[in-house]
Amino acid sequence: MPDKEVNIINGYEQVQIQWYPGHMTKARRMIEENLPLIDCICEILDARIPFSSANPDIAELSEGRPRIVILNRCDLADPEITKRWAKHFENEGATVLQTDAKSGKGVNSFIPEVRNVLKDKIESYEQKGQVGRALRIMILGIPNVGKSTFINKVAGRKAAIAGDKPGVTRGKQWISLGQGIDLLDTPGILWPKFESQEVGEMLAITNAIKTDVFDVEALAANFMLRLRKMYPEAIKERYKFEPDPDANGYELLEAAAAKRGMLISKGEYDIDRMAHTLLNEYHDGKLGRISLEEPDD
Ligand code: G4P
Repeated sequence: MPDKEVNIINGYEQVQIQWYPGHMTKARRMIEENLPLIDCICEILDARIPFSSANPDIAELSEGRPRIVILNRCDLADPEITKRWAKHFENEGATVLQTDAKSGKGVNSFIPEVRNVLKDKIESYEQKGQVGRALRIMILGIPNVGKSTFINKVAGRKAAIAGDKPGVTRGKQWISLGQGIDLLDTPGILWPKFESQEVGEMLAITNAIKTDVFDVEALAANFMLRLRKMYPEAIKERYKFEPDPDANGYELLEAAAAKRGMLISKGEYDIDRMAHTLLNEYHDGKLGRISLEEPDD
């Protein structure tokens, strides 16, 4: 087994992984500057890791404003857990949509939901004689959460850059959806809050941040431990072995490498190759629909 520091977190072993913090100030400033222009905030999260893919500043900054939470990549997440997350955000007062932006599933509900969430606003604009004033939605999400895919799907062929608006600095883009709705896209500047090793790890396992800044074997070993705890069936079905309850993450990787015949030399298995294989197969959805965070964690 490689020489790694092993800690016990949340009742199971965690291998210490190095990760790098992102920059938060710029994102926060951008949101604050643009808030006065906005009718509603729409936050896109990865349904498998709604906690780790969120930026905690958003809930605070959007306080008092309508908020839509998009649980994207729900095709890869555990449907039961996604339902519980939806309830969780609804209890916080948000409107929740479950989407698979890649196939477009769930995306069609976006425009009707926006109109529903903002019906009082629409009425008040009409009363003020501002008939036809576009509703302005700020779309937020950490890089790689599926923001561009979602915007392209929701905008479809109607997508048009609506041009500069006062107070909007370069790098941001207004996209007119037609039907009186404009989206403010904020490309790739909103970083997650790397407060803990666990958040960094969740982001790396789901490919939101590049795994090459991580020790991939340690990452995959931790992921194996999570799978054994939450989805032992996935190990059995995909890697054809019963996970030993006493094995550490590396030993589980080794068992999977043995089943796959990944030998380096006689009796020595290629744990590094198995680590990459495991993470790639998770990204491709080959392990089934697997969520890594639950609302009551
Ligand atoms: P971003 O703007 O937030 O940075 O993310 P982007 O839309 O570029 O999406 C990142 C990757 O996630 C893309 O895959 C995209 O296809 C995929 N994706 C987005 N939404 C979903 C979803 O709901 N389900 C699934 N399964 N995938 C989603 P890619 O790796 O760039 O390539 P490809 O998969 O399109 O070939």
